[in-house]
Amino acid sequence: MEKKYYVTTPIYYPSDNLHIGHTYCTVAADALKRYKKLQGYDVRMITGTDEHGQKIQEAAEAAGLEPKAYVDKIVEETKALWASMEIDYDRFIRTTDKDHEKNVQDLFTKLYDQGDIYKGEYEGYYCTPCESFWSESQLLEGHLCPDCGRETYLSKEESYFFRLSQYQDALIQYYEDHPEFLQPDFRKKEMINSFLKEGLEDLSVTRSSFDWGVPVPFDRDHVVYVWIDALACYLTAAGLGNEEVSFEDFWPADVHLVGKEIVRFHAIIWPALLMALDLPLPKEIFGHGWILFENDKMSKSKGNVIYPEPIIDLYGVDALKYFLLREFAFGHDGSFSSKSFLTRLNSDLANDLGNLLSRTVSMLGKYNEGKIPQAGDRLEVDKDLENLATSTWERVEEAMEGYQFSKALEAIWKLVSRTNKYVDETEPWVLAKDPDPTRLYTVLYHLAESLRIISVLLTPFLPHTAKEIRSQLGLGDQVALEEAKNWGLLEVGGQTEKKGIIFPRLDVEAELEKLRDKNQALFEARQAAKQGAKIETKEEITIDDFDKMDIRVAKILKVEDHPNADRLYVLTIKVGPEERVICSSIKEDYKPEDLVGKKILVLVNLKPAKMRGVLSQGMLLAAETEDGRLSLASTLEDIDDNAKIS
Ligand code: MSP
Repeated sequence: MEKKYYVTTPIYYPSDNLHIGHTYCTVAADALKRYKKLQGYDVRMITGTDEHGQKIQEAAEAAGLEPKAYVDKIVEETKALWASMEIDYDRFIRTTDKDHEKNVQDLFTKLYDQGDIYKGEYEGYYCTPCESFWSESQLLEGHLCPDCGRETYLSKEESYFFRLSQYQDALIQYYEDHPEFLQPDFRKKEMINSFLKEGLEDLSVTRSSFDWGVPVPFDRDHVVYVWIDALACYLTAAGLGNEEVSFEDFWPADVHLVGKEIVRFHAIIWPALLMALDLPLPKEIFGHGWILFENDKMSKSKGNVIYPEPIIDLYGVDALKYFLLREFAFGHDGSFSSKSFLTRLNSDLANDLGNLLSRTVSMLGKYNEGKIPQAGDRLEVDKDLENLATSTWERVEEAMEGYQFSKALEAIWKLVSRTNKYVDETEPWVLAKDPDPTRLYTVLYHLAESLRIISVLLTPFLPHTAKEIRSQLGLGDQVALEEAKNWGLLEVGGQTEKKGIIFPRLDVEAELEKLRDKNQALFEARQAAKQGAKIETKEEITIDDFDKMDIRVAKILKVEDHPNADRLYVLTIKVGPEERVICSSIKEDYKPEDLVGKKILVLVNLKPAKMRGVLSQGMLLAAETEDGRLSLASTLEDIDDNAKIS
């Protein structure tokens, strides 16, 4: 029977157009799938969308659509992207799929019936803008949100809870017994020390404040909260409750590839849930790093999002896959730069690989009518190449065991470079002058054979390129890893064919501009497409309500760190004749020297409140972006402080 292998990516929130950071994990999972197939496994790879929850419900309302219609549209776009990237998934699972919703309800009921889920009350201080609950001890003085410094209110919500706390010891034990369970090692240490050993609290697993979710079957006031719903996708997509795929064949998963910020859900909540369900745990979880842009988080509001589509359009999908997998070490963060992308494209793909293929096939054409010649006796230099070529798979395999895609490609490129060096060392154009062609033929055979092995090893990572190399060598697409272990598989007399250049050399500066323009145009088009959507506002107010607010222009005189709160500044401001002190959580967004002397808007009749021991007399007005960045509000022209806003 074929060996089975099951790899998953996270399921994506359908809230936005995906950027290259999002494609990272999917590209890696795709390469892993293709690699395991090459090894002879029957592989199942899944990806999908995480469609429930309050944010989606609100986004749909804002777009004037029903939630399902809203997500359907995004799912189509996501699938189109994966198709253009040739991501070879076996199921695109949606949390709204009927078989999945049924599984969630069945699992939830089972956990409830056996006492792992119980009904309780979720009580906390709720900060509406941050959508977060806080305990009293976490709040700033005056019941203010510790994240944004704004007012919170006490909220009680009936909720079902999963007895996560009861699995703490079993989880610690599991980690001890299975050192490979969570990788890389530093993520495991972080999980154990920061969460497991700190103590686990029971987890609220339903919500009753919105209804876009899987209903709790025995209590229709509640929907299952996103994480149980989302994680259970891995089971549904493995075939649970589905007759077409055998769940037993694919569960437990061999590996869940996940981004670093969701490791906690996968490495603590997920195994505890599976223990409670009496199901085997996934064999491994790998937490990969993030792709940043110039060391900063990519976000639409910062305008620094890099989309995959322009890169694919201009340079092909293999170029993007190569860069993502080669440039970044999978466990760590990395910074995307178009310049390094284009430079690598030139050096590794055009110069090293492209050139090797083109010169090899050209020489075969020129010196042997494009036919694979018979090799004669081998010299040391030939054996050296042969040894490296037939052993490179070992380094690729070792790297892939640890999900080190970059190391795997590095090993393949060592062979590419060695083969290029072999051309320089053997100088076939000089050999061609010898009336006895034996030595020339031996060299040409070695070049073609080395390229054949390279094409096998490249298949999982650059499927297009591998096919192209094989086609020029006169070989078919079907490959197995075994073929990279043995020398001499190219048949003498086989017909090769020189076709186009696989990666043309680029003018980096000119391409930089082209790429930037294309990305920017797409960004603007996508923003414009959203303009048609309506925004959701708070309850309507009258002009009298507004008049109650006294907002004035104020000048910042001094900015100091708050003595007791890391996130806050204490600002001294001048409003006409008066000086006041205001505490504000803008520390992450502004340095003191950016603020002193600036004119800003302040709500001056807000009831003074103590914030961690300092009396704050008013509130600065600031705009907040989706990802929590603050920008202080001011007037268009420089205007005297104390001017009133009306
Ligand atoms: N829906 C949850 C996952 C549930 S899995 C049962 C979720 N979705 S997400 O859309 O926010 O993120 C999906 C994946 O994209 C995460 O693994 C996240 O780490 C990854 N990435 C988002 N931005 C990224 C980068 N800039 N770089 C690399 N991966 C990043 O979380």
